[in-house]
Amino acid sequence: MDTRKVYIETYGCQMNLADTELLLGLLKPHGYEPTQVAAQADVILLNTCAIREHAEEKVMRRLGNLVRYKAQRPGVLLGLMGCMAQHHREKLLDKAPFLDLVLGPDAYHNLPVLLAQEDKDEPLVAVRLDRDETYADISPVRAEGVRAWVTAMRGCDKFCTFCIVPYVRGRERSVPLDALLEQVRELAAQGYKEVVYLGQTVNAYHDGDCDFSDLLRRTAAIEGIERIRFTSPHPSDMSERVIEAMATCPKVAPYLHLPLQAASNRVLERMERGYTVEQYAALVERLRAAVPGLALSTDIIVGFPGEEEADFRATYDFMAEIHYDSAFMFKYSAREGTKAYKWGETLSEEEKGRRLQEIIALQERISGELNRQTIGQTVEVLVEGPAKRQKGWLAGKSGQFKTVVFPGNSARPGDLVPVLVVSATAHTLVGEARR
Ligand code: 5AD
Ligand code: SF4
Repeated sequence: MDTRKVYIETYGCQMNLADTELLLGLLKPHGYEPTQVAAQADVILLNTCAIREHAEEKVMRRLGNLVRYKAQRPGVLLGLMGCMAQHHREKLLDKAPFLDLVLGPDAYHNLPVLLAQEDKDEPLVAVRLDRDETYADISPVRAEGVRAWVTAMRGCDKFCTFCIVPYVRGRERSVPLDALLEQVRELAAQGYKEVVYLGQTVNAYHDGDCDFSDLLRRTAAIEGIERIRFTSPHPSDMSERVIEAMATCPKVAPYLHLPLQAASNRVLERMERGYTVEQYAALVERLRAAVPGLALSTDIIVGFPGEEEADFRATYDFMAEIHYDSAFMFKYSAREGTKAYKWGETLSEEEKGRRLQEIIALQERISGELNRQTIGQTVEVLVEGPAKRQKGWLAGKSGQFKTVVFPGNSARPGDLVPVLVVSATAHTLVGEARR
């Protein structure tokens, strides 16, 4: 069989990174090898994100740039995969008539079939959402490293009023437990040390009577896997059973990404997030009591329709009180098809920008303070490889998911090394290996 080359560019969240590994896995038996060089590829795919307008604009610009490869090498196919394909469907062909393929997140099984078709003159669009598709039958082609992303569930049933995800990724469904554990056992055998379970509301995972806590416990029993993380859990699905599993399985890292979005009950209600500020704060308290040293990160949206200055201040004050280790902060972006889209925008871009800058500055201070508090402590680092900036240094993550760099010793990728923290910035801990 001739080898053909596929080039995939990934946008958006870790689910998409995992989906790109899945696409490579789907194409491999059909003779497609990945390439990092678009100019050498027979098939060029963009795996896209629709969460904010900005993400979509970036992809449209990039498409305009990649189309030249089609002109240079006749026969090259250009495809748009993922959430943006699902969001705009056929309409994409008006804006980008040169596209050969438009495939939504549940339509990837069509890809090899479409590529094998003789007649490729007409663009092919496949955007049917499928309540059962989990791709449990596909072995992803993973990037080398110490950490593997494993999709545990797909889709979302929450329908937060700002969010396009339930419309583009469809209904919630979990990968069968046995298939997941088998995958992780294979990963351990291949030398991966950390698994990160992925899902839009990953802690809503269930298979029969087994819930997410069972998945964590069963994974912790797999020899060779040293660390387990997951993202993103939804606060409403953070059951006592899951907290208990986090507290009692040492392999489950003391780190949690717990999206808040806003800390005004008025706004939370209009977002239909399903919790109040008080419930969220009580959850954080329970988590911190159960998991000593727990690091927390979050997602915040500023400028949601109807967000008053007082609502924003409540979010600011809550962040100052909770002390997140880090936060992903966004300006609200109206997404056509969502409930909030109909409410229009109530704030100018400038005002949203001002609010965003204010919380970014706050979070930068807090992250710096929390990181400096670790000076003098010894943290356990899972070594990933050479540090990016300092020659001869190594880099990895602590259990709290902080980036740690230290002068290289005999440690190799995949080793767990105790490192004494000697200095810190808001983004990095600098240390010395203890052995
Ligand atoms: N505008 C801005 N941010 C959004 N997010 C989701 N939808 C939107 C939107 N329309 C953010 C949320 C979510 C994260 C993945 O992206 O904070 O948790
Ligand atoms: Fe979007 Fe809400 Fe589902 Fe998260 S829980 S993917 S924010 S709808």
